[in-house]
Amino acid sequence: MSVTDPQPPAPDPRSDAAQEALHDRIAADSLTTRRDYLRIVATVSGGLAVGGVAVASGILHRHGDSEGAPEAKRIADQLLPGESLAFRYPGSEDRAVAVRLEDGTLAGYSAVCTHLACGVLWRKDRGSEGELYCPCHEGVFDARTGEVTAGPPPRGLPKVVLVEETDGSVWAIGTARSGESAREGLCRQLGDDRPELADRLGCPGASARGAAGERSERT
Ligand code: FES
Repeated sequence: MSVTDPQPPAPDPRSDAAQEALHDRIAADSLTTRRDYLRIVATVSGGLAVGGVAVASGILHRHGDSEGAPEAKRIADQLLPGESLAFRYPGSEDRAVAVRLEDGTLAGYSAVCTHLACGVLWRKDRGSEGELYCPCHEGVFDARTGEVTAGPPPRGLPKVVLVEETDGSVWAIGTARSGESAREGLCRQLGDDRPELADRLGCPGASARGAAGERSERT
């Protein structure tokens, strides 16, 4: 599964048919049921599509270990182009912001500035498609990538991975560090814990980790 546009003749993994096939394959998984899964029509954060992937809210449900995938959280019934939403994720004290760009892209970030931890705000009317702004020292972050475009912040904003359900609801399902893609963040968090889901996401080395886990369980 790729985050880039596929080349012919391979089917587009974001096409309806490809997504439906993936849903059917996942639904057939004996470990869970179709009801357990978020049926994602788009998985976009920081401008990178995870790529027609259905991610299980139940599978992602984890508490405790900060390296593990956090619990999926419904943050909005819908988010329209140009709108933003302040929410808390992954913990109740973790300030975050979700924005829907005019082209429909969903982007989620930590709202804690990487300079001196002031709150980051969404400014819809700045830049070509809005920007994330820290008023403390004029820090500015790219709305699509979270990277620093102005001011003293030393690195980009950590991402909150957002997905949209078929009913339009928006969910936070994971996080990614500064400079990490949404997929890289999810893969790291799933890690050795859920190799089968990591494999579905196309995480590098997931199959090998899963096989190693199965071998160790047999011994
Ligand atoms: Fe955000 Fe200084 S705290 S720019």
